[in-house]
Amino acid sequence: MSERTLVLVKPDGVRRGVVGEVISRIERKGLTLVALELRTLARETAEAHYEEHSSKPFFGDLVEFITGGPLVAMVVEGPRAIEAFRALAGATDPVSATPGTIRGDFALEIGENIVHGSDSTYSADREIKLFFPELG
Ligand code: CMP
Repeated sequence: MSERTLVLVKPDGVRRGVVGEVISRIERKGLTLVALELRTLARETAEAHYEEHSSKPFFGDLVEFITGGPLVAMVVEGPRAIEAFRALAGATDPVSATPGTIRGDFALEIGENIVHGSDSTYSADREIKLFFPELG
């Protein structure tokens, strides 16, 4: 059964010029792009997106970082798309991420880890509605 996930190429990924590389890996895996947009997030959207981290000590830095430049937001679809993209992305901490994964290949710092992918069906629904309300 097909499912959808929200993928972000964060501002560090856009600055580093790896948007095409990330899209290419998603497509090579067999996943499908359903929506895609370059945009700079408003603070309110960033705070809503990361609301589960609002009590964490790094929340302020996270919101500053994610609103600090354009990012690419996508909705990606396919069988077990949530887990499939998280496998492509690798571990949250890029130093622990396996080489061959996006974070394992392109990042070194946990706060600048190139991509975000929804971590559950609940998060995916919530995040897709936040970024692409027209998709319902
Ligand atoms: P992401 O998958 O976008 O979801 C939450 C983000 O918080 C995570 O990726 C990291 O980039 C960031 N994050 C998690 N832990 C830390 C930390 N200890 N310091 C700074 N940022 C963090």
